[in-house]
Amino acid sequence: MTRMTRSAPNAALVVLALFALAGCRETVDYNSGRIDFDPERPEVPEAEDITPYDGDDETVLDAQMRFPTGLDLHQKVIWRTCTPNGGVCHNAKEYPDLRTPANLASAFDAPCNVQPGESTSVFDGCEPSGDRIRFTGNLDTEPVEIAYVEQIAGDEIDDFDPSNLSAESPGLHIHLVTPVQTDRDGGWSTARFVRTFVEGGEVDEITYASYETQWAVLDGGSHLIGNVREYQSEEVEELINVGIEEADANRNGVAGATADMGVKMLVPGRPEDSYLIARIRGEMHDAPIPGSRMPLANAPLSISEMLGLYCLVEGWPEGADQAYLSGPIDYRNCSYSEDPEALNLLGNGVTWQARVRPILEANCGGCHSEAEQQGDLVLVGEGVYERLLENSLQLPDLSLIEPGDAENSYLYQKLIGADGIIGNTMPFNPLTGEGQLTEAELGDILTWISNGAVEDQ
Ligand code: HEC
Repeated sequence: MTRMTRSAPNAALVVLALFALAGCRETVDYNSGRIDFDPERPEVPEAEDITPYDGDDETVLDAQMRFPTGLDLHQKVIWRTCTPNGGVCHNAKEYPDLRTPANLASAFDAPCNVQPGESTSVFDGCEPSGDRIRFTGNLDTEPVEIAYVEQIAGDEIDDFDPSNLSAESPGLHIHLVTPVQTDRDGGWSTARFVRTFVEGGEVDEITYASYETQWAVLDGGSHLIGNVREYQSEEVEELINVGIEEADANRNGVAGATADMGVKMLVPGRPEDSYLIARIRGEMHDAPIPGSRMPLANAPLSISEMLGLYCLVEGWPEGADQAYLSGPIDYRNCSYSEDPEALNLLGNGVTWQARVRPILEANCGGCHSEAEQQGDLVLVGEGVYERLLENSLQLPDLSLIEPGDAENSYLYQKLIGADGIIGNTMPFNPLTGEGQLTEAELGDILTWISNGAVEDQ
């Protein structure tokens, strides 16, 4: 008999999208224009001891004038990225809700979260500790941490013989961080899914689900396959919907929390170690951060906005709360005031050569080449950059690219399928009649235009 118990109602916190299609990952050269910066950290002064910056760097003066306090920065920069309909703070679980100053303050020292969706957009440093699984019955094991779970669809296996099974066999595949210790290669067993809850200092272990079936032990114990008979498929679906916490959600062999990589949303004193900032930049310590850049809904942050954010985080004292936001940001002692230009988001590989040109080549060349010239437009080869600054044929009032102004860049409007374009959203797919670049590609083209759409950097 097979049974499933669910004694922890709040285990359903996380919804796993196991069936989500794996997205394709792009390779970006993030090395061009990295920040070569070895900060000398200032001592964090008390708010009343903060004296304004009185140097002559225009960007620092601009930032200090526009965002004198953390509250100004929240209202003028962070809130802006949240507000427009469909803004990132509202619709994407992966971003913390930053709508109020209190939200911003509580992002300090908060772990970054793994959002449901594409496993490839998970950053190792945000992976949580996994739930554990323990087998009783023919297999009798200690609890071991779950790396990830995958259901492979297919007919039930009548002759369930471990030696005939592989990574492609239909069934419930459980991958483990460390192998289970057993001499057997499988057998009827009950798998129990266990989660540790810590509440008010109390540690509680809860078995939130169990599943009894035939199991096969593969790969020296680090991979188990459970048979899913037809009458059990609903049960397995329910189990997966409960949301199993996966230690290696992005399935790259690194369990972030176990490897002690836990990354925080914002780290007091250390903007370069803060996940939120890494998501804006697209990298952390030269390693690309998977997933689309934020904020997507709006123009990317300008250099003085980035400076305000960096200086706020750098000056944030350990344990400070919301009240600290009303005090002045210490631009004078902020190590980034030395060279704010280094914070230009273009410094991260979102350049014409490294990023934009390859996107056009890969997605547009089939129709917009010398040989094809659909829509009388060539987007690959020599002279493309110059052509982009010229007018659109469809809407001659607009240039294809208007540096600094994506709204008046007809090519960008075609990419997002804006109202008012003539013809189709690009890249047009003749088979489906539609088409769209990935969010990451769109975000990078937007960043490039907003930063002046320069040719060679
Ligand atoms: C399958 C073929 C195809 C692909 C792929 C394609 N296009 Fe097009 N494109 C067309 C056709 C056909 C037109 C003219 C009709 C229309 O706009 O729907 C056009 C028109 C355009 C125009 C308007 C030109 C003007 O002067 O006003 C722009 C801009 C454009 N495409 C950009 C792109 C970009 C950028 C990509 C890649 C991300 C792309 N296209 C991919 C076929 C394609």
